[in-house]
Amino acid sequence: MRTIEWRDGVVVTIDQTVLPLKEEWIELRSYEEVASAIKEMKMRGAPLIGVAAAYGMALAAYHSKAETKEDFLRELERCAEILRKTRPTAVNLFWAIDRIMNKARNTQGNLEDLREAVISEAQIMADEDVETNRRIGKHGAKLLSDGDTVLTHCNAGSLATVDYGTALAVIRAAWEEGKRIRVIADETRPKLQGARLTAYELMRDGIPVTLITDGMAGYVMAKGLVDKVIVGADRIVRDGVANKIGTYTVAVLAKEHGIPFYVAAPTSTFDLSKNSEDVIIEERSPEEVTHVGSVRIAPEGVEVMNPAFDITPLKYVDAIICEKGVLSREEFLRLTEKTT
Ligand code: MRU
Repeated sequence: MRTIEWRDGVVVTIDQTVLPLKEEWIELRSYEEVASAIKEMKMRGAPLIGVAAAYGMALAAYHSKAETKEDFLRELERCAEILRKTRPTAVNLFWAIDRIMNKARNTQGNLEDLREAVISEAQIMADEDVETNRRIGKHGAKLLSDGDTVLTHCNAGSLATVDYGTALAVIRAAWEEGKRIRVIADETRPKLQGARLTAYELMRDGIPVTLITDGMAGYVMAKGLVDKVIVGADRIVRDGVANKIGTYTVAVLAKEHGIPFYVAAPTSTFDLSKNSEDVIIEERSPEEVTHVGSVRIAPEGVEVMNPAFDITPLKYVDAIICEKGVLSREEFLRLTEKTT
């Protein structure tokens, strides 16, 4: 299932806030609409956010009334500023915006050439994402054995990317190779990406999935029901992995129970000039915690924390699966030394 598409100046995507109860495709016609859709998590997941921002810039280019290159670039920069403010943690957002800006700045020719260059770069990025995810799947599948049960957190599937996913790419690829894989999906409070999106996606593909609440992860591990953990990432820094809140808990539990813990992510999620303390953890609205959907579950006025991500120190990560291959923790550390 392709999550996002460009159709002649319109960005078409599935609204992830209403899944799985409704499969509603929405049309975004301006970069402002794209920015709102990212903020409201109609589109979410690091790689998808990146491609969505690129398409947002493509919409700005498509509708631009600028008459000079300088004005065109100024308009794009304004659009980039708005998009950069949507969500702070996933590095793919900034990576994608910078890539489009560089393309625009370095393209020779007239205004029409610039417009074309921006739109086609966004298209290329969308197609590359799918190719990258297939590679992640192929490399990662080698880590899974026939009969494995894999626990995953949040949704790092097709819905979090243009198609095929990252953590779920590994599971899909192993499944396509004929390995009988089962998945345990954490519900992932507070936005329930595991319950709503991972369960939905895997059921659509016919891959066996069992849903648990986040607090059950330790229980299923202690019972010997989990062979491996695979999660996605929003930003991989030199000393850790930022991903959906609750990932750190799962990683610590996995180590305690001797269960391999893998992170699957494209290299566009690597941010190797930064450390954990440089990562901005998005703090979202308290209503996401005090309510389930639109139903209040906590007393009026209660103090709430709602960090959307946490950081798992590298010592808990056994390997990082990217499109170039599987990097053991030691190989990843060597890579960070080279990028100093
Ligand atoms: O807040 P979300 O739903 O955008 O968070 C998503 C995650 O944490 C994913 O695990 C991550 O972006 C990787 S998606 C391939």
